[in-house]
Amino acid sequence: MEQIEIIYPDDWHCHLRDGAYLATTVPMVAKQFKRAIVMPNLNPPVTTAELVRQYHQRIMEHVPTGNSFTPLMTLYLKDSTTPEIIKEAKQEGLLFGCKLYPAGVTTHSQAGVTQLEKLFPALETMATLQVPLLIHGEVNDPEVDIFDRERIFIEKHLTTLLKEFPTLKIVLEHITTQDAVQFIKESANNVAATITPQHLWLNRNALFSGGIQPHHYCLPVLKRKIHQQALIQAATSGNPKFFLGTDSAPHPQAQKESACGCAGIFSHHAAMEMYAHIFEQENALPLFEGFASKFGPDFYGLPYNKEKLILRKQNWDVPEKLVFGNDTLIPFLAAKTLNWQQIS
Ligand code: NCD
Ligand code: ZN
Repeated sequence: MEQIEIIYPDDWHCHLRDGAYLATTVPMVAKQFKRAIVMPNLNPPVTTAELVRQYHQRIMEHVPTGNSFTPLMTLYLKDSTTPEIIKEAKQEGLLFGCKLYPAGVTTHSQAGVTQLEKLFPALETMATLQVPLLIHGEVNDPEVDIFDRERIFIEKHLTTLLKEFPTLKIVLEHITTQDAVQFIKESANNVAATITPQHLWLNRNALFSGGIQPHHYCLPVLKRKIHQQALIQAATSGNPKFFLGTDSAPHPQAQKESACGCAGIFSHHAAMEMYAHIFEQENALPLFEGFASKFGPDFYGLPYNKEKLILRKQNWDVPEKLVFGNDTLIPFLAAKTLNWQQIS
């Protein structure tokens, strides 16, 4: 196949950051996707209706003229998030979902939830108002091995949430293990998962190949090859419970290449190309449109996009670096050659 034409896709999980960084992130997400769920882990986080509204406005200021990109806004859940906060944010009209970070599991999650039970009244309200719950599914216990944190979150917490809130729509984001794949497959239809390009492309060997590779570090951390294979299988299987979420998460080069490097991989420069490569490799290109453009809207009850995205089979080199405010950004697969390219 020389060309792929699909319904324009959406990104069901990404980070656009703030301030001068929006000048890089917003035009890039708006080129590849029509809608994107924007994570609220700013510093300080987006915890109220007013902060959601202001962040939405700052993003919209960077959407290129004539581009119909829509950011889908999220609220950052804390122990202190009340039903009233959820109601107010919902009434304001911009709230798409609420994000649960167990405190300390990832970038800017220190203000996250320390005890799930504290959140139950807010979750009850979300279920009633049909506000989806988006989960970073890892336990925050430093005693738990980092490669096991997703599996243990599922066993200890996700099962409880599903039991307590059977009507709440839940997305387990950026899954990384065969345990998560299995759990999602077996769970009811109110539960789904997103999969990133990096977790399809790499396994944990890539973190240490030839030396420590900070640009391959994200959370949840890359896992063994058997998990990578389970994710590839899930993404390319046509099962509508698995759909696209890049988790594109840019950090300045200096903060990645440091004694304590930040977690997060930027992929909005070529996410669709990377996914296409995986689908082609698996002989699954006919199922690509479902994963990228249909299963997400189906799960969230939204219409498909009307426009088409076209990728052509042609080699091109990923830039070595990008401008990122006053910093530089090293994109995922920098300086590597990709074999698909978005042409419109
Ligand atoms: C994300 C970030 O940098 O905001 N980092 C990451 O490694 N994925 C946060 C997150 O989604 O965990
Ligand atoms: Zn993320």
